Amino acid sequence: MLNIHRITNRYLTSYYQTVRCQSFYTSTSINHSDTINNNHNNNSNHNKINDNYSSSHNNSSHQLNNKLITTPIFYVNGTPHIGHLYTSVLGDAIARWNRFCNDKVLYMTGTDEHGQKVQDAAKKAQKDNIVYCDEISGVFRKSFDQFGISYDDYIRTTEQRHKNVVHDMWNKLDGNGLIYKGSYEGWYCVSDEAFLTNDQVQDGMSPVTPQNPVSKPCKLSIESGNPCEWVSESNYMFKLTDFLKPIDNWLSKNPLYPESWNLQARSYLPHLKDLSVSRPSSRLPWGIRVPNDESQSIYVWLDALTNYLTVAGGFKARSADGTDIAWNHTDVTHVIGKDILKFHSIYWPAFLLGTGLKLPHSIVTHAHWTVERVKMSKSRGNVISPFDIAEKYGIEGVRYFLLKGGGLENDGDWSDLEVRSRITADLADTFGNLVTRCTAKALHPSRAWPTCLSQTFAATAQEPNSLRIIEQMQQLVSLVNQHYKCGDIKSGIYEVINFTYATNNFVEQTKPWTLVPKPGKQAGDLMRLNDIMYILLECIRTIALLLSPVIPESSKKTLDHIGVDETHRNINHIQFGYDYPQTLVPMNPLILFKKE
Ligand code: MSP
Repeated sequence: MLNIHRITNRYLTSYYQTVRCQSFYTSTSINHSDTINNNHNNNSNHNKINDNYSSSHNNSSHQLNNKLITTPIFYVNGTPHIGHLYTSVLGDAIARWNRFCNDKVLYMTGTDEHGQKVQDAAKKAQKDNIVYCDEISGVFRKSFDQFGISYDDYIRTTEQRHKNVVHDMWNKLDGNGLIYKGSYEGWYCVSDEAFLTNDQVQDGMSPVTPQNPVSKPCKLSIESGNPCEWVSESNYMFKLTDFLKPIDNWLSKNPLYPESWNLQARSYLPHLKDLSVSRPSSRLPWGIRVPNDESQSIYVWLDALTNYLTVAGGFKARSADGTDIAWNHTDVTHVIGKDILKFHSIYWPAFLLGTGLKLPHSIVTHAHWTVERVKMSKSRGNVISPFDIAEKYGIEGVRYFLLKGGGLENDGDWSDLEVRSRITADLADTFGNLVTRCTAKALHPSRAWPTCLSQTFAATAQEPNSLRIIEQMQQLVSLVNQHYKCGDIKSGIYEVINFTYATNNFVEQTKPWTLVPKPGKQAGDLMRLNDIMYILLECIRTIALLLSPVIPESSKKTLDHIGVDETHRNINHIQFGYDYPQTLVPMNPLILFKKE
């Protein structure tokens, strides 16, 4: 803002009026409390920006701030694949953009370690449960670290801080008369850790695995296609049906993004009954025990969903003003895959309502990844490991491809051919090439960065090609902000990349190399060269800032190269008119991406 005003006052009043930058200010830099879903701003706590409080726990001590952004916690029954990585990279990009907009964000991820599925996996691996969990949780964490996932907290459900909050949750629900003793007879799907009724299963054949090489007739979950087993057991029930109306009412305000998922979530409601929230400890020793009843273990989804509250400090952490539980002063955004929609859009809100806690602000739901159009599965042998692709395509290439290719409503498809061609076309040939050629010393013969304070700048900036690209740049910021704030990183990237192509066209139109004086050949036009290069540098700076949640390292390298101060890498400084430093243009060219 300051830059713009200074420049406006000194040189460019008429020019800036022409490009109507005023509309740009209002739509981007001011409006960042207008976040993920403005349909449910009915909650008066949503925009309390300074509601910090301390929550200390056993592996770090951090402040929970006005925004909590979460991934699902990952089952440790196997090592990570690109589906898991995608959820985390998507959440990471959303978290990074919110930080860019000066919001105080706590971004969390972690592992879901109890339940029958994990217990069975540990047994298969012939390892002690906790040894097995330590190992796989560590592998997930390593993959997230490798991909630059900027998590502030990594929770494991086997931690004591979490067990305490799960007990508190149980006791509150019980204290509010919402838990009763019952029995369950029906289907249980271990892969989904879900209780299913007769009309949620169909006849099918069990999958062939190394342990079960012969397929047998069995019941399959209609929703997930996973095999189910018949169980008959006594357990505790939660009065889910008490909450179906309020949840329907909440869903009618579209807290899920994209909007179509709200309809999907509402379609579950008529079929729901009260929910089993425990399983006999004899069957499920690997679970948190029900308070005061050792014979029962808490259902893994009640345990797992509560992790979000654990990270927020449970029922004990207070808001900064001390008037309430901190959770109630926080905007929570859950990022989830479509397969766990019911758990997050119905069960979790019911538990929150049952304990008097605020509902999430938004649930960003994404579709899945297939590989060459086929569902990923161990038995098909087409599971893609994050570690392999990091080595093959580089961290930033993979992040870019996942975020641009993954869908919120439609499945994304991984194919090596497509990964290669996207990295080459968008990153190496378009963004990388633009940066390399426009920051090379050949186009900056004086080795000083260009400035918009030249006498000719206003005139150059009013030429049709210049006006078009500057106007496009200003609209771009506003558009990308709207997409990113909703969690639609993909649409934001499309906008940025289209603009990057347009910037390359601007280079072709203005041919800055023809303005460079060549001894004995051409006189050149250093004033005009400065002006064109200034506009180009502004395009590059804008692109790098807008891609910072997507390819943070390349963005940083670019901004470092052109001397953008670290404290200027946020929404307040994104507008046209940056003052480049007095430092010399580096001698070495900046090469960001290898061609794949
Ligand atoms: N542990 C539960 C979540 C509990 S959250 C309180 C769970 N774990 S999971 O490991 O099976 O899945 C974690 C995330 O990975 C989910 O969002 C899921 O949608 C995502 N993916 C798993 N396979 C996927 C693809 N093939 N494609 C994209 N994402 C997928 O569910």
